[in-house]
Amino acid sequence: MSVKVVIGSQWGDEGKGKIVDLLSEDVDVVVRYQGGANAGHTIFVNGKKFVLHLIPSGIVREKILCIIGNGVVLDPSAFFEELEILKENKINTDNRIIILPNTHLVLPFHKIIDQLNEMGTGKIGTTGRGIGPAYTDKYLRLGIRIIDLYNDDYIHSILQRNIELKNILAKHYYKIDEFSIEIIKNYLFEIRGKIEQFVSKDSTIVSKMIDEGKKILLEGAQGALLDIDHGTYPYVTSSNPTIGGALTGSGISTKQISEIIGVAKAYCTRVGEGPFPTELKNKLGEKIRNSGNEFGATTGRPRRCGWLDLPALKYSAQINGFDSIAITKLDVLSELDEIKICTGYKLNGELINHFPVDTPTLMKVEPVYETFKGWKNSIQGIRDYEDLPAEAKKYLEFIEDYLSIKIKIISTGFERNDTIII
Ligand code: GDP
Ligand code: IMO
Ligand code: MG
Repeated sequence: MSVKVVIGSQWGDEGKGKIVDLLSEDVDVVVRYQGGANAGHTIFVNGKKFVLHLIPSGIVREKILCIIGNGVVLDPSAFFEELEILKENKINTDNRIIILPNTHLVLPFHKIIDQLNEMGTGKIGTTGRGIGPAYTDKYLRLGIRIIDLYNDDYIHSILQRNIELKNILAKHYYKIDEFSIEIIKNYLFEIRGKIEQFVSKDSTIVSKMIDEGKKILLEGAQGALLDIDHGTYPYVTSSNPTIGGALTGSGISTKQISEIIGVAKAYCTRVGEGPFPTELKNKLGEKIRNSGNEFGATTGRPRRCGWLDLPALKYSAQINGFDSIAITKLDVLSELDEIKICTGYKLNGELINHFPVDTPTLMKVEPVYETFKGWKNSIQGIRDYEDLPAEAKKYLEFIEDYLSIKIKIISTGFERNDTIII
């Protein structure tokens, strides 16, 4: 059985797209298991850039079948837009994309509500892609799944209840025009014909493909520290990027997983609000942002940058059970005289070495650092571990020792082949 799971281990944007693309050389199927068009997964192949939001990153390799799992919330407009861009880029998508029937939809009103929520107090800094409101409807049992698009009675009754509730908020809380059931219905009727060709009748195909011996790669979006259960709540997304989400979001069993790979940047970034103990709110942070081109792949927002946080990474490894780590963007640190790694925190003068799950506490901790000498040489594109400067090796070995997990992939540039595989 070969079922690998690629999971972001920080606050997203770790370079999952690049790692999924790299590993998909050797797989038959790539499955996205959660999140929605809030994700932006970037791949560079021979200088050509692709940014995937909903469609699995396996799509850029011709032979791969791509499945959108039931854990995803799918915005049909974003999906068709993405398909169009792929076609413009000469990627043949015919018969290569399947959507599981129990995948929930993101509808236009979800995006409006997401954006309105961000204008009030308690801003999360969401991507505005309707993710939270769509998952809210799923859990309220008021959502519409892809399969429900073909059931007029269901659409009618669920919209009646859903929109009745939304319109109370629209009128009295958001103070906007009421939503029209007719307009939403027309939108659903318009997309259902177009999307039908992608919809699988069977929600268990991923599990069956594994049993048939297909090599599968499960692609997570966001990262463990944005997980709704395990992340820095409430500054999180609304799904489970962590390992449990990979199972429920694709309909497979824990027994079917063979390897769990955590992707970590050689430093840390975060977009939106929320605690970030090692954040560098200074010139150095800006320097890393510019060297690493740390601007959101979905919203273009500047990413907050800071040092690698090992207690956070260890926490992530603990809850996901990483078998190995892929370290990305090591090349970005090349210009620095010295590089720091957070190995613990101080709280009211006392040392703690775990990642506090209590957000107000996490906001207060002061990082404790180990300082490393920089290598001050470009390592961009290095493909052999032995060619790395001694200082870079020391940095990586320190991470491995702290986590007691092997680093099996080191990314030294954004191009597919700028990679060391150990
Ligand atoms: P994802 O959401 O985890 O897939 O990551 P993003 O695509 O949002 O952000 C990662 C960014 O870093 C993208 O622009 C990638 O092209 C880029 N990238 C990935 N790996 C490397 C690397 O090793 N070095 C450099 N310089 N850039 C990288
Ligand atoms: P990928 O898959 C980085 C962040 C948002 C915000 C919080 C909630 O590219 O790593 P949401 O729109 O999900 O309700 O926003 O989560 N966020 C991401 N940050 N990478 C992502 O995806 C993200 N998806 C959501 O910035 O802080
Ligand atoms: Mg991203």
